[in-house]
Amino acid sequence: MSESVTIVGLGGSMRAASTSLTSLEIALEGAAAAGAKTQVFSIRELDLPMYTPEHSIPDAAQRLADAIAESQAMIWSSPTYQGSISGAMKNAIDWLILLAQREPPYLTNKPIGLMATAGGTHGLQSINAMEFCVRALRGWAVPLVLPVAHSGQIFDPEGRLTDDKVGGQLRALGAEVARAAFQFQGTGTCDYAERLQLQAQ
Ligand SMILES: Cc1cc2nc3c(=O)[nH]c(=O)nc-3n(C[C@H](O)[C@H](O)[C@H](O)COP(=O)(O)O)c2cc1C
Repeated sequence: MSESVTIVGLGGSMRAASTSLTSLEIALEGAAAAGAKTQVFSIRELDLPMYTPEHSIPDAAQRLADAIAESQAMIWSSPTYQGSISGAMKNAIDWLILLAQREPPYLTNKPIGLMATAGGTHGLQSINAMEFCVRALRGWAVPLVLPVAHSGQIFDPEGRLTDDKVGGQLRALGAEVARAAFQFQGTGTCDYAERLQLQAQ
């Protein structure tokens, strides 16, 4: 087993008291308790412009891409807007086109944990939308996901979680992503370079 894995969290909303950012931070605590190093990128703090191919590359997008390329796994956490992920979250994912020319490209070999907060019960739809993106980016969606429902009842107005049971579920998701990251690193059975070598033989 590899000595260390780094998990990059990406998520939250443009809102200061973001429940999806709080959820992401708690999940990363679970990942850290399971032995991973963690780094978080808040959508609000990234403040990315809308992606266009003609745009000069913003520092924030470059920092995000570099951190992801150096990492072994990610956790994504979006608010649910109109039955899917927010536009700001999708825009951040669109900026991951910056990983196209890396070797290996995009999110190859990386397990990605998915969670979403929702005022009602549509969170799983956001998770499914993110899973499409993970697959397009050649990542591996971790089977355990967490739609956090009824956010208005379990977060206070400052965006702090008030439900210990949900806190435990978020930490468990983080721990599961760490377990997957160690597994990918440790056995090498999912390794991209190894697969290319096999194809060349
Ligand atoms: C524009 C907008 C659209 C929303 N659409 C939905 C929805 O379709 N289904 C749902 O369950 N909650 C919906 N919500 C509620 C949010 O998912 C919920 O407040 C969530 O906790 C917001 O995440 P945040 O605190 O990170 O901003 C919507 C909220 C906004 C502002």
